[in-house]
Amino acid sequence: MKITYLGHSCFGVETGGKRLLFDPFVSSNPLAQNLDVQGFVVDYILPSHAHSDHISDLETVAKNNPNAVVIAIADIAERYAHKGLKTHGMNKGGWASFDFGRVKMVAADHSSTFPDGKSGGESVGFVLDTPEGVLYFAGDTALTMDMQLIPMTCPELDIAILPIGDNYTMGPADAVIASDFVRCNRVVGCHFDTFPQIKIDHEKAVAAFSEKGKELILMQIGETLDV
Ligand code: NI
Ligand code: MN
Repeated sequence: MKITYLGHSCFGVETGGKRLLFDPFVSSNPLAQNLDVQGFVVDYILPSHAHSDHISDLETVAKNNPNAVVIAIADIAERYAHKGLKTHGMNKGGWASFDFGRVKMVAADHSSTFPDGKSGGESVGFVLDTPEGVLYFAGDTALTMDMQLIPMTCPELDIAILPIGDNYTMGPADAVIASDFVRCNRVVGCHFDTFPQIKIDHEKAVAAFSEKGKELILMQIGETLDV
């Protein structure tokens, strides 16, 4: 499984020859101006919720990839289906199978309203269970007790992508506890530095994890990690 950081909470995941894109927000990300979203080639798009910093490029990518399927909570899937996109609606607690593996939609504790004020249902996270590894993408979320259900209901995680930017989501201290709850000591940080409110001290964040024997990976935008 290859994980590419595309800035903020946007990640590309390549597994089983399929290309997944989480939380497309690139063209409006001041830190990701070296990336060209028009060139993205994807098979699946997985938005965690309806805030603009997670979906602003979704329709552009979907239009450029007419066969791409949007895997989202039913409320978001329905909205995009009405716009002619291919969608697979889910809701929290359920597994669904795809050609790259299976996906569980899990709880996140965060709001979810589209930029135009319409409801996006609720925020979610995703667990990807593939032959090449198991990944937890938390989306935007507070630290929540529900995270303890993940190791009880999913295969052992190889890697967890957790928000660490504080203000809108967990900060590093809570993310350390989250990594305990999901029983995964290898964490990729996201949702930090993009805006002034979420600028973090990288060294402090990495130290908060290493003090507990955990690894926090802060990827460069455009960097790829082999899991
Ligand atoms: Ni959000
Ligand atoms: Mn966000």
